[in-house]
Amino acid sequence: MRHDHLITSKQLSRADIETVLDRAAEIDDDPSAVADRHANRLLGLLFFEPSTRTKMSFETAMKRLGGDVVDMGSVESSSVKKGETLADTVRVIEGYTDALVLRHPKQGAATMASEFVDVPLLNAGDGAGHHPTQTLLDLYTIRENAGLDDLTIGIMGDLKYGRTVHSLAYALTNFDARQHFISPESLQLPREVVYDLHQADGGAGIREHDSLEEVLPSLDVLYVTRIQRERFPDEQEYQKVAGEYQIDMETLEAASDDLTIMHPLPRVDEIAPAIDETECAAYFEQAHNGVPVRMALLDLLLREGGDDDE
Ligand code: NCD
Repeated sequence: MRHDHLITSKQLSRADIETVLDRAAEIDDDPSAVADRHANRLLGLLFFEPSTRTKMSFETAMKRLGGDVVDMGSVESSSVKKGETLADTVRVIEGYTDALVLRHPKQGAATMASEFVDVPLLNAGDGAGHHPTQTLLDLYTIRENAGLDDLTIGIMGDLKYGRTVHSLAYALTNFDARQHFISPESLQLPREVVYDLHQADGGAGIREHDSLEEVLPSLDVLYVTRIQRERFPDEQEYQKVAGEYQIDMETLEAASDDLTIMHPLPRVDEIAPAIDETECAAYFEQAHNGVPVRMALLDLLLREGGDDDE
């Protein structure tokens, strides 16, 4: 894999994805083999938006590779408060670190920031844009639970603002996957994303629905997402769709016994807690997969950028 920056999943070929997932599986089997691999390497964390899983799993991954992190901390406690531009902030922090992880509320922020730095910059979410490292752990989880070949997946919830959905949908066009998108009309995938998906996929595997019922029995994986309240320009618009799609034990009656339910988390009320105890629930495993997958990604990027040999 040869990428200086990872901004969207559109950059990733099937071979790139398989390289990361295979590496992650090796690391998952024997994490001790890489425990000192990146000693003295530093990862810069720049999170301009809240994060639990993404930030902590990057931090865990870097430390489990023998390296460490430096963290800008909250926007409130940083020079961003004094009016510093993102371009200046990333140019400063790249001088302290070997790679950067950026999360920002503005779509396109990661692309812009990457133009100012030489160290690899990983997009950990840019507004309603993309979240490619989440996609890699999502694909890892799908591969472990259902396989990536001949996959039928339902992606449900906030498809308009959900960046994890955008990144996952693009990446799945590399595989033989039928993608069913389920949402209220107001939260459908942006039209340009649908257009791109049809182009990439040849049109065979992309369908949009407003109800889960008609597709649920055919699904191998159901990927549920939170309605992204913070991205709605108008709270009333959010209230109109809040709680629209919820999965509970009754929903499962119409599903295949082998259904895998995923969610990037955090959940609000999309999945009833009773589901957690079923064999279908893969979302906590999915969150845990963030560590080996981000270890694999960092290992591949830092090795290319550094002078250590296999
Ligand atoms: C997601 C995000 O930040 O886009 N969270 C995550 O990284 N696992 C999903 C969300 O916030 O709904």
